[in-house]
Amino acid sequence: MNHSENYIAQLRQQFPILSKQINGHPLTYLDNAATTQKPLAVINALQQYYSGMNANVHRASHTLSSEATQAFESARHTVARYLNAASTREIIWTRGATESINLVAHSWGHKLKSGDEIILSTLEHHANIVPWQLLAKRTGAIIKVIPLLNNGDLDLTTFRNLLCDKTKLVAISHASNALGTINPVKKIIEASHSVGALVLVDGAQALPHFEVDLKSLDADFYVFSGHKVYAPTGIGVLYAKEALLEEMIPWQAGGEMISTVSFNNTTFNDIPFKFEAGTPNISGAIGLATALTWLSQQDRIQLEHQETTLLELAIEGCSTIKGWQRIGAPSETVSLLSFTLDGVHQQDIGLLLDQQGIAVRTGHHCAMPLMETLNLPGTTRASFAFYNTVQEVTRFVEALDQLRSTEDINIFQSASFQ
Ligand SMILES: Cc1ncc(COP(=O)(O)O)c(C=O)c1O
Repeated sequence: MNHSENYIAQLRQQFPILSKQINGHPLTYLDNAATTQKPLAVINALQQYYSGMNANVHRASHTLSSEATQAFESARHTVARYLNAASTREIIWTRGATESINLVAHSWGHKLKSGDEIILSTLEHHANIVPWQLLAKRTGAIIKVIPLLNNGDLDLTTFRNLLCDKTKLVAISHASNALGTINPVKKIIEASHSVGALVLVDGAQALPHFEVDLKSLDADFYVFSGHKVYAPTGIGVLYAKEALLEEMIPWQAGGEMISTVSFNNTTFNDIPFKFEAGTPNISGAIGLATALTWLSQQDRIQLEHQETTLLELAIEGCSTIKGWQRIGAPSETVSLLSFTLDGVHQQDIGLLLDQQGIAVRTGHHCAMPLMETLNLPGTTRASFAFYNTVQEVTRFVEALDQLRSTEDINIFQSASFQ
């Protein structure tokens, strides 16, 4: 093993689940775009929190509660620093990217008027479509959609033509969960700001793969889910510029988000707490901060290199399989491969690979408008993380190839029996 293989092998050992057997085979986990596995650092942080620190935050005057509050707020600092946000006041805890987008659609979106325009892209996950459709129904706003080029990149010329003084928001994924496309969000933000529109970036598929600097990006809103970035489920983040948060109205009401309550009047807490009603996911926030700290301690260039290598190997290997077709070939992509296999239904591919311990995702990937545009019912998606290995990619390609041959025999047999 060379130095870099050694490094990756040593990182992989920190993910206990990866040594599991599935259906009598070693688990080959290629469903990282759905959720990532967790390193021991994160698993231990949760265990330590519950065995040594569990208490409600911001409320009691006892020591345990102060310790939990300190750890919880320090987690917010870690996230703010990781994203290079201007302050912790700009970091709101949510359940995930979906909840973050819904929060913006309610708390910021309520002031849209009939005829205002929201621009989305064909690549969006349902989480970045449906909240805007509901908002459009409530306010009379109009949704416009950026089309795709043939390779799965966004058509930026059409995007520029869609922008006008009626555009109030552009809501766009940083990276596509279905095709892998990394969108040129910095350019999109600059163009949108030039007509006075705000931009929400859905970073759910970006943060697991590369670092994001919010000051340099200048996004107005940035959302992501913890579970896709090696942290627990049920925790996520909404970043928003402080001035916007100050103007936005709360969307959920209850404890924590208030300053004073009487039956005549209620005043709200300061940001970020104004948007965090009820007891928060304390252990999740600590787990997320642990995951980001763990990631920042790694050699990110090596991690990215490993992911790119795996993707290239997978494309090269699959290209020789009869009837295999890659869906989209974006000019910039995260390590994710969407494909079809002529004559084999994606669900069968998923089931047959699972029999060999290989986990992939099949279906519409919560991107039905994209599938409609591509005229496909769905695809099979293999998504790689740095802890995947060359051997796993080889196993995946061989299993797919074998499946193709078996399918050929089945097709031949059923034809010959007729
Ligand atoms: C691009 C993108 N946006 C949003 C989401 C929604 O994330 P969550 O279900 O964690 O809220 C996903 C999840 O797959 C995604 O891939």
